[in-house]
Amino acid sequence: MSTSSFQTSVAVFALLILHAGALDTFTAAVYEHAVLLPKETETPVSRDDALLLMNKNIDILEKAIKQAAEQGAKIIVTPEDALYGWKFSRETIFPYLEDVPDPEVGWIPCQDPHRFGHTPIQARLSCLAKNNSIYVLANIGDKKPCNSYDSRCPPNGYYQYNTNVVYDMTGQLVARYHKYHLYSEPQFDVPEKPELVTFNTTFGRFGIFTCFDILFHDPAVTLVKDFQVDTVLFPTAWMNVLPLLTAVEFHSAWAMGMRVNLLVANIHHVRLNMTGSGIYAPHTPKVYHYDMETDQGRLLLSEVDLHPRGSPTYPAAANWSAHASAVQPFPGQKPPFRGFISRDEFHFTELSENAGNLTVCQEDLCCHLSYRMLRKEESEVYVLGAFTGLHGRRKREFWQVCTMLKCKTTSLATCGKPVETALTRFNMFSLSGTFGTEYVFPEVLLTKVRLSPGKFEVLKDGRLVNKNGSSEPLLSVSLFGRWYTKDSRFISGGISNLETTNLLIFTFLMIIALQI
Ligand SMILES: *[C@@H]1O[C@H](CO)[C@@H](O)[C@H](O)[C@H]1NC(C)=O
Ligand SMILES: *[C@@H]1O[C@H](CO)[C@@H](O)[C@H](O)[C@H]1NC(C)=O
Ligand SMILES: *[C@@H]1O[C@H](CO)[C@@H](O)[C@H](O)[C@H]1NC(C)=O
Ligand SMILES: *[C@@H]1O[C@H](CO)[C@@H](O)[C@H](O)[C@H]1NC(C)=O
Ligand SMILES: *[C@@H]1O[C@H](CO)[C@@H](O)[C@H](O)[C@H]1NC(C)=O
Ligand SMILES: *[C@@H]1O[C@H](CO)[C@@H](O)[C@H](O)[C@H]1NC(C)=O
Repeated sequence: MSTSSFQTSVAVFALLILHAGALDTFTAAVYEHAVLLPKETETPVSRDDALLLMNKNIDILEKAIKQAAEQGAKIIVTPEDALYGWKFSRETIFPYLEDVPDPEVGWIPCQDPHRFGHTPIQARLSCLAKNNSIYVLANIGDKKPCNSYDSRCPPNGYYQYNTNVVYDMTGQLVARYHKYHLYSEPQFDVPEKPELVTFNTTFGRFGIFTCFDILFHDPAVTLVKDFQVDTVLFPTAWMNVLPLLTAVEFHSAWAMGMRVNLLVANIHHVRLNMTGSGIYAPHTPKVYHYDMETDQGRLLLSEVDLHPRGSPTYPAAANWSAHASAVQPFPGQKPPFRGFISRDEFHFTELSENAGNLTVCQEDLCCHLSYRMLRKEESEVYVLGAFTGLHGRRKREFWQVCTMLKCKTTSLATCGKPVETALTRFNMFSLSGTFGTEYVFPEVLLTKVRLSPGKFEVLKDGRLVNKNGSSEPLLSVSLFGRWYTKDSRFISGGISNLETTNLLIFTFLMIIALQI
């Protein structure tokens, strides 16, 4: 090798290192969108009216996409239902749907808008990605013709899917995902099996799922564990439910529990408690937004690691039961009392002193808490709670939860009811539980539904502990476990599915009725 080619090699090598260094992180964006809703109707609108409404929503998304691109974002996630809302029957959603082809066809709708029929929405979204050189995720409705040879084919001859599409910087369709776990969505069909959709970029490997999917093993957990995605794209229309399932709280906890980047774009609709978007890294929330005051959308941007698994901040895996199984239940306890979070019956025990060690058990799950309050506020009561079992009215998903939370009032009968403010600060807390599952999501929620980035951590032995002295006033500290293999499965077959559909429609109407 001559000197000059050696020097060139060194220079190239140095450039490569610089290059790799410069590419360790990328800028991601999510947009919380205050969706313009259609007028309520039981008869379908025309295709033109449907396009008019969708284009008005895209006008707003377009500004966010342009702004994100100007600020250097490589990718932007927009919310579920962002083009038309959520209140539809199979018939009334129909004019909003387009046939979305398999990305394998290699299609740039912006350049070739007529290749797959009438697809103006896909063409416009693709052009937004292309014109601004940014990856765009949007949630649209897909319709797939089927016929009577297919016994599952719906009466109108179309499957209708709640669908995410991703366009790359050239406007090419690179991913399509049909939502699997529908939540009260009579307008859409459940795909035959969960789709595992990933795509590779120069800034990491991505996976996609939607809203309610996040509470289940497939595709969510499989994408992270088996497909090793670096970053998950997560559009949602999430109604906040205190104390355990507000958007920012649960989504940040999922990113931490699964140790993956999670980009969350939620709908903004204050009256329905829909707000809470964020960019969450495995070790900490990077940026989040929760706003029950205004009716405005919001663009969030943050730097995130390309490959979080290779980053020095990547947290070690926790054995969630190691500590709790090793210790004896703390002695000298009052018997627990029963209380409810939503429909789930918890065992609770009160934090009656300003510091202490408590244990509360339900069946095999024992939750241990050590704590010290800065001062015990006379006006506030906290309890430690344990729940293990099938959750909610439907009793389908198996939960294991250890939680320390503020009761709504000083009456113990209000423990578990939603409460949004608190005064009590803690110098120290350490929460652990004898979980039977390896899927546990650590939640810390402060007064006014705020997160606590950098102020708590999960130790390898499964303890969730505060990190840096006294906290802001706490609403709740929880270890939210999902034991997927103990979920009750649907009995397959027409009748039970029909019953389920009716129940879903009923639930949906109930939700609507409650909101009016
Ligand atoms: C994209 O750019 C082309 C040409 O520059 C323009 O005609 C088109 O309207 C733009 N589309 C969008 C959606 O911005
Ligand atoms: C992404 O790249 C990996 C190898 O790095 C490969 O195994 C995987 O199949 C690719 N995924 C897609 C969707 O191309
Ligand atoms: C919104 O949340 C509050 C408390 O967190 C609850 O009282 C109210 O019923 C919720 N509204 C809807 C529409 O669910
Ligand atoms: C977690 O810790 C418990 C108790 O020390 C132990 O029995 C169990 O094998 C550990 N689990 C794993 C996956 O290491
Ligand atoms: C809680 O237990 C720890 C040891 O596990 C002990 O050091 C501490 O004094 C106890 N706290 C209270 C208030 O009893
Ligand atoms: C820890 O607390 C100290 C003082 O309370 C504060 O100056 C520091 O910024 C905190 N560190 C973190 C990482 O929050």
